[in-house]
Formats: sequence, structure tokens, C-alpha cells
Amino acid sequence: MAIERTLTIVKPDGTAQGIVGEVVRRLEANRFKILGMKMIRMSPAQAAGFYLVHQGKHFYESLTAFMSEGPVVVMALEGEAAIGRLRDLMGPTDPKKAPRGTLRGDYGTSIERNVIHGSDSPESVAFEVPYFFNALELCG
Ligand code: RTP
Ligand code: MG
Repeated sequence: MAIERTLTIVKPDGTAQGIVGEVVRRLEANRFKILGMKMIRMSPAQAAGFYLVHQGKHFYESLTAFMSEGPVVVMALEGEAAIGRLRDLMGPTDPKKAPRGTLRGDYGTSIERNVIHGSDSPESVAFEVPYFFNALELCG
């Protein structure tokens, strides 16, 4: 399997629940290397730019309002098959369908307020990592 990079965000409902440490613990326990990490509060425009791929969908305005309602913790990660393994740790988008033991199954409260973001493809990683980190901010 190949070493990949991926991007994760502890969403505003995750930082509000105080589970940043738990997310980091699960990532490190699963051999994800943290290359960069920061807490930021996105403006609505910054959140809209990040989720531009969803522009026009019925949940886009609500999603960008949610993602800018409070601080988020953004991390660039690296590891074996990191993109898919991060999605496995997160669980499916809808927490109601997410098994116990996944982050969304354990902490998500609605299909929107689902605690964590993860890149879904190498193409997404190529857009999402530089959206938040420049090369000097990544400790490879
Ligand atoms: P993410 O991009 O945040 O990792 O989530 P995902 O791939 O599992 O799901 P995606 O389809 O990319 O949707 C992005 C985020 O939009 C919100 N959402 N709301 N109300 C709805 O029907 C709905 N659908 C999606 C969620 O916050 C979802 O994670
Ligand atoms: Mg997605």
C-alpha cells in the first residue's frame, strides 16, 4: 500500500464537544502522522471556498454557516492508505448509519453536524491541504 497524505477537520460541533484530544488520540493510535495542525475560525466565505464542490446542493448554505459557527482544528496527515483509512475512522456521513467506534457514530448528532471532515480522493487532497497549509507548515 502507498503512503498518502490527507486532510482532516474537527468541525465546530467537535471542538464544542471537547473531543479534539480524542480525535488526535485515535489518529495517532492508528499510525497517522500529523504533518501540520492548527485551530482556526473560518469566515463563511472561507468555508464556502473549502466546500466549493458542493455549491448548488440543497445543504450548501447551511453547511457553510455551520462550518463557520466556531473554531475548527485542521490537520494534514500522512500514512499508509491514509485517505481511505481516515474515512473508515470517521464512518459514513450520516451518524445514524455510522457504527459505534467510528467518530461520527460516537459523536455525530445529525447528517450535517457529523464532527469530522476527511478528504475523499487524491484530487481532493491536492486541493484541500494547500487550502490551509503552505509547504513550510508541513513537517514531513
Ligand atoms: P466531509 O466532506 O465533511 O468529510 O463529509 P462527507 O464526504 O462524508 O460528505 P459530503 O457529501 O462531502 O458532504 C459534506 C458535508 O456536508 C454536510 N451535509 N449535509 N443536510 C444534508 O443532507 C447534508 N449532506 C451533507 C455534512 O456536514 C457533510 O459531512
Ligand atoms: Mg466530502
